[in-house]
Amino acid sequence: MPSGTNAVLDQRSLEASNANLLTVLRPGQRVLDVGCGSGAITAGIAALVGADGLVTGIDRSAELIGQAQQKFAAIGNLHFEAIDILGYAPKLRYDVITTARTLQWIAEPSVVIQKMIGLLGPEGVLCVLDYNHALIEWEPEPPKEMRYFYECFLRWRSDAGMYNDIVDRLPAMVSSLGLRITLNRDESEYRRREDAGFPAHAGIWTKVAETRGNQMVSDGYVTEEQRLAAIDAYTRWCGTEARSMRLYLRAVHAQR
Ligand SMILES: C[S@@+](CC[C@H](N)C(=O)[O-])C[C@H]1O[C@@H](n2cnc3c(N)ncnc32)[C@H](O)[C@@H]1O
Repeated sequence: MPSGTNAVLDQRSLEASNANLLTVLRPGQRVLDVGCGSGAITAGIAALVGADGLVTGIDRSAELIGQAQQKFAAIGNLHFEAIDILGYAPKLRYDVITTARTLQWIAEPSVVIQKMIGLLGPEGVLCVLDYNHALIEWEPEPPKEMRYFYECFLRWRSDAGMYNDIVDRLPAMVSSLGLRITLNRDESEYRRREDAGFPAHAGIWTKVAETRGNQMVSDGYVTEEQRLAAIDAYTRWCGTEARSMRLYLRAVHAQR
């Protein structure tokens, strides 16, 4: 993840940003959070499963895991490890494995899903929360500079093998791997201008252009001028015309 990502991740919480987990979490469970980032949601999970439970957050970003370890060092039932899920080989099996907003960044998600299934206990639940980026809705349309940047963002992602519509492919993927779907729920993140948190919600694309945008420039998908123009025009739009934005997000839970 590019540096600066934690500014977005740190604002998240279990209740506000991964509420579907509240339907499966119980005191005493062993939970693995794959792609936990800086641990904001993971810490909420640890509070819910309590002292008899055990929560592990893993992420391939050593920087984000370092921040999580520092921030949540005092929580006894919570551990973090900097490792790629594909190389993770714990001894125990988990009651719940959650992966939120992570499969969207993985080029071969079915390999990762298979790996996670192998880490589930017999009654374990796999809980995925992710996007379909193609179905974003802005009201009214954002400025052309940001529309162009977003188009390039989707192309950059799909050329790198990532699925922009990952969450809508998931039910078929997990079913073909032998799991049955136990929940498939719309969790779209929708805010209107008058709602609390609207500037941060709509402003996520400014942050993406400021962080990921640099990679897109290096990879030749946008010029530096186009990136800066998108940031400038979109920031102005957010502060003036923007009325609402919906990020299409779904939760899919599955069990053996
Ligand atoms: C957008 S963040 C989501 C963080 C958090 N789950 C949330 O919902 O706020 C995606 C995270 O997945 C991590 N990630 C991506 N691929 C991974 C992999 N193969 N193994 C472990 N972590 C991975 C990234 O480093 C990043 O921190």
